[in-house]
Amino acid sequence: MNYKTSAQLRDLWHDFFSRRGHTIIRSASLIPENDPTVLFTTAGMHPLVPYLLGEKHPGGVRLANVQKCVRTGDIDEVGDASHCTFFEMLGNWSLGDYFKAEMIRFSYEFLTSSEFLGIDPQRLAVSVFAGDADAPRDEESAAAWHSLGIPVERIFFLPKKNNWWGPAGITGPCGPDTEMFIDFNKPCSPDCSPACDCGNYLEIWNDVFMQYNKTADGSFEPLKQKNVDTGMGLERTVCILQGKSSVYETDVFAPVIAEIEKLTGKTYGADEETTRAMRIVADHVRTAVFMIGDEKGIAPSNVGQGYILRRLLRRAIRYIKGLGVRGQGTGEADGKEGTSTHESRLSTIAASFIRQYSAAYPELSQNAQKVIDEIAREEERFEKTLANGLKEFDKLCGYLVGDTVSGKAAFKLYDTYGFPLEMTEELAAERGLKVNSGDFLKQFNEHQQLSRAGAEAVFKGGLADHSEIITRLHTATHLMHQALKTVLNDDNVNQKGSNITAERLRFDFSFSRPVTPDEQRKVEQLVNAAIAANVPIDCTEMTVEEAKASGAIGLFASKYGEKVKVYSMGAFSKEICGGPHALKTGELGKFKIVKEESSSAGVRRIKAVLE
Ligand code: SER
Repeated sequence: MNYKTSAQLRDLWHDFFSRRGHTIIRSASLIPENDPTVLFTTAGMHPLVPYLLGEKHPGGVRLANVQKCVRTGDIDEVGDASHCTFFEMLGNWSLGDYFKAEMIRFSYEFLTSSEFLGIDPQRLAVSVFAGDADAPRDEESAAAWHSLGIPVERIFFLPKKNNWWGPAGITGPCGPDTEMFIDFNKPCSPDCSPACDCGNYLEIWNDVFMQYNKTADGSFEPLKQKNVDTGMGLERTVCILQGKSSVYETDVFAPVIAEIEKLTGKTYGADEETTRAMRIVADHVRTAVFMIGDEKGIAPSNVGQGYILRRLLRRAIRYIKGLGVRGQGTGEADGKEGTSTHESRLSTIAASFIRQYSAAYPELSQNAQKVIDEIAREEERFEKTLANGLKEFDKLCGYLVGDTVSGKAAFKLYDTYGFPLEMTEELAAERGLKVNSGDFLKQFNEHQQLSRAGAEAVFKGGLADHSEIITRLHTATHLMHQALKTVLNDDNVNQKGSNITAERLRFDFSFSRPVTPDEQRKVEQLVNAAIAANVPIDCTEMTVEEAKASGAIGLFASKYGEKVKVYSMGAFSKEICGGPHALKTGELGKFKIVKEESSSAGVRRIKAVLE
């Protein structure tokens, strides 16, 4: 296997696909623009969904890129050899152009050709879809692999659980996939397969063949446009190519691990605890750098994306404190270490990542100062309360009857000392204790600090939280959406994005020219008339089809589950939506547009408030 650096791998990817007629598109922002259902971009296909559904992409029908992705679902696993909260996904797409045979040829060539990855074909195993009641066995992919020389013993037919891609239970484009694995040739049993987690097979690439649309009634209808969507994790591939046992030992992390060693005086690999702590610090700081340094950068806060960022930074702070400062003991004993000659260690680590990634992601050097400042500020903020919070935690453990820290105590640690729930959970686990997290979340919601951001990476309906003011602004968004359709008298006026904070609503919609001041006034009048009518807001559950038949609007329908909620506001507005909403329109106050501007080509943006 040839040695390949991460930068070389990016270049090879671009080179391979551009030479095969693909347009190289830049990585989309980590912050999804037109999809309120997730907090961060989680895969290369994510920003491309409209094109997978048939919209024309300006780059044509063959695309490739390296996409910044964040997945925080496995945050507890970070610290092992392979989990990362941020990763780069190498991806390529065919939008109704080539399909299985050609893609499999591309994959084989990229993986095995000495000009590209140069992996020995003897070490490759693949899996293909075994077939079920919904879709047939994927003989076509199997035949394509076989014709390239992969023997039948290394072609595994696996069920939907392993070889199907597309969010389960949700409508939209999906299909069988074929996955490629490095075969370590140490099967754990005669039945060992890539479905087995013994470690003999390491996934390297996933080619999804989007040939079906899962409809609201649960059936799979063939898509008019058959697409290919592939994804290869850069970090994991580099790890394989460099023959390392952990992504943290590759050139992606090595310079930063060295920096952490310098800052702490500890040695990576000295013991399990040190290794794990260094990996957590490195991973979390890297993710924070990309979140803050993104073209739509965010800052630590107590809601939505900002809260995920805060959790990552605070967890990193706790772990780097645990590692101690060079020449001193660990800081946890007195809780004061590092504060007298305070210098942000996380910023030093962040600077190292910025240097490393600037060539591939110029936004990081453009936003370098902001990244450094935000991280240093968060470190300082948290330092101020951390020592007292740890004391409070110890005190609490002293009083504890039983083995469970109450939700109320965990909430106090959150509210007063800024301890994210999982940090309290980790501290508790270190002492063999549990935390009543359900009760914590109840406290949380009661205080309306945030909605679900603490529990899940779901930014429901583009709302920062479910507080009263945000709920009202959300209801006003529905009224405005309908009013825009009415005033502009254009069926193509559709929601492209929505983002609501306590200060204002922001609504993006397709429309090709500015909305005139006169039209804006008419929209305000219509919305305020609907508010004055003080009609009750009704919510009914129905299938997507029933909703559409009833005339409900709602752009994200194809991604909803089989049953959807439809919110009606008198005869004026009817829209598919997850809620929540005000009870009556009269609660809203006076609606006022404060800004109308262009958002992107063919998309306008309105900001409005309730007075
Ligand atoms: N969407 C697929 C994945 O995330 C392939 O890109 O693996």
